[in-house]
Amino acid sequence: MDALTDLKAKYLSGISAASDEAGLEELRLAALGKKGEVSLKMRELGKMTPEERQVAGPALNALKEEIDGALRAKRAALADAALDERLKAEWLDVTLPGRPRPQGTIHPVSQVTEEVTAIFADMGFSVAEGPQIESDWHNFDALNIPPEHPARQEHDTFFMARAEGDNRPPHVLRTHTSPVQIRSMMANGAPIRVIAPGRVYRMDMDQTHAPMFHQVEGLAIGRDISMANLKWTLEEFCRAFFEVEQVDLRFRASHFPFTEPSAEVDIRCSWAGGQLKIGEGDDWMEILGSGMVHPKVLSAAGVDPEMWQGFAFGMGIDRLAMLKYGIPDLRAFFDSDLRWLRHYGFAALDMPTVHGGLSR
Ligand code: DAH
Repeated sequence: MDALTDLKAKYLSGISAASDEAGLEELRLAALGKKGEVSLKMRELGKMTPEERQVAGPALNALKEEIDGALRAKRAALADAALDERLKAEWLDVTLPGRPRPQGTIHPVSQVTEEVTAIFADMGFSVAEGPQIESDWHNFDALNIPPEHPARQEHDTFFMARAEGDNRPPHVLRTHTSPVQIRSMMANGAPIRVIAPGRVYRMDMDQTHAPMFHQVEGLAIGRDISMANLKWTLEEFCRAFFEVEQVDLRFRASHFPFTEPSAEVDIRCSWAGGQLKIGEGDDWMEILGSGMVHPKVLSAAGVDPEMWQGFAFGMGIDRLAMLKYGIPDLRAFFDSDLRWLRHYGFAALDMPTVHGGLSR
């Protein structure tokens, strides 16, 4: 039976050397396929004598099974190797951060605007907007600041150019957010409860003044809204905004053409150790102007002062940001210096809410 020994050696070494599934299949067909060498030998059994067949039969069967077993084992080994290969090639270090850190941050002015909006929204105020290029009627006249009024000079107004021969009063870059009071009342009447954050412009520039800055206006008109409501609203706002338990506000009689009576509001603070602390100490810092809306302003906006009354206030958003976040120079707000932004900026996805925390 030398021929069988040769066949066995040939196929077992062929199988062990095979490097892929296709090679194995070729060997299987060559040995065990219909016309394979082993199969042909099986066919020869019929021509043998019974004695010969008794020896050759089991030997051929054993060979067939041995080759079949070797094929199976090799196939499994190849599959394992392929899987190993894939595991190595498709390896992923899941401990690495998935994404680079975001580069941008939220500007303190945007952050404070969101904080202020969240607090007043919680008190039922909606947000109103008006144009930055404003008619002088909305910016001044309707707010009880007639042309000869000294407040017009105090506002250091930027005027828009008019076409030659056009003698109408020029539009202005709004000097405050108060004209949004007029626009809101004209659009929606009373009762009304709005805040209006936005950009305003004045010709002024030093450490605490910039020619463009931000204010937020507040307006609440109803049947019996009083100074007491104003006081509570502002105290509530300051407590929430500065994130302190106790705030002390001082209402100082003042004068604004669009309110009567008018009050400027100071907040108690301390400068101990050169560090500003809100809510304690013996110093006072002015933070806003306010008052009861002047009947003439209501009339100008089409709201009947015999039926309606209410309060208004206006404060500087940049100034609020400087106070809360200890930012010393206003001019840096508008330098677009990325180092400054990274230092004072806020994470993009931390939207301030009253219940979730304003500044974290
Ligand atoms: N408009 C004023 C300013 O720019 C601020 C202000 C004061 C607004 C009193 C008000 C107010 O609504 O009642 O200086």
